[in-house]
Amino acid sequence: MAAYPNKVSIFEVGARDGLQNEKPVTTQDKVVLIEDLATAGIKRIEAASFVSPKWVPQMADSADVLSNITRHSDVTYSALTPNLKGLELALDAGADEVAIFGAASESFSQKNINCSIAESIERFIPVMELAKAKNIPVRGYVSCVLGCPYEGEIAVSEVARVSELLYKMGCYEISLGDTIGVGTPGKARRMVEAVAQVVPVEKLALHFHDTYGQALANILACLETGVSVIDSSVAGLGGCPYAKGASGNLATEDLVYMLHGLGIETGIDLNKLVNAGNKISQALGRQSGSKVARALS
Ligand code: HMG
Ligand code: MG
Repeated sequence: MAAYPNKVSIFEVGARDGLQNEKPVTTQDKVVLIEDLATAGIKRIEAASFVSPKWVPQMADSADVLSNITRHSDVTYSALTPNLKGLELALDAGADEVAIFGAASESFSQKNINCSIAESIERFIPVMELAKAKNIPVRGYVSCVLGCPYEGEIAVSEVARVSELLYKMGCYEISLGDTIGVGTPGKARRMVEAVAQVVPVEKLALHFHDTYGQALANILACLETGVSVIDSSVAGLGGCPYAKGASGNLATEDLVYMLHGLGIETGIDLNKLVNAGNKISQALGRQSGSKVARALS
């Protein structure tokens, strides 16, 4: 029997990674979703994104979302911040933590944040400095860790290099993004093992989109490396606007069902989570992307 962790910390990205790539919903729909997720027992919620509203109009109401939620004292509400302007807006809106996002692919970096990998690292330096001065933890994302929509295969060494850079800059956790969901279990595991050579495995998170239906299998394979933080998206919401055809992250309901079946604790109430996912799916006028939610509903 493989050695899986006893507990997994779920980092819920549906309200951000999910809704950034769905048709717009109201601010109130987002507020209800975030409150429902907290009620279901989720402790880490990515609730907002302070990026250019011209690039991602769905996230333009991020400040209103953060100011309108009723906060649970034991929940962390985080926001994406690509630059200093984003961080300043996130601080004003009361984000508990923020995330910078880089890529292991030059082409994706250009399409997503309009600069090279090296320029992005330069841009993140003042973000890290201000966040540190304000005592705000910063998470780091690396996109395209198992493939790029423009370049195809990405060298594992490049994933490790960018991950190490973000970690050494002060990111408390590095989230490894299979942005277009092309990975398979052996590759995913080898990629995590390579990154774990340069960033402690307990500082890594998995962020797998489910485009090819491999995310659950990839996560299971990677759990054997000692990773115990997983990003997922309730109802399988979303995708990435700069990765055409990419579907949402693995559905949180499906992940929780698997983990509980393995005897791994998450602290999440699956029925409440399913209700949260069904409610936002209804607001979007679409079926839930979670098989577990569909089976239980
Ligand atoms: P740029 O055009 O190079 O930036 O965009 P700029 O500094 O030249 O500014 C251009 C305009 O944007 C200016 O406004 C700025 O004020 C404004 P204008 O004068 O034209 O009216 N601006 C901002 N507005 C609000 N908030 C800000 C901000 N910064 C500048 N923070 C930029 C550079 C990074 C801003 C742009 O490329 C951008 O917003 N990109 C966002 C891309 C994005 O959100 N992608 C999706 C999230 S990443 C993802 O989903 C992957 C992930 O899930 C992991 C995975 O799956 O792999 C994390
Ligand atoms: Mg993503």
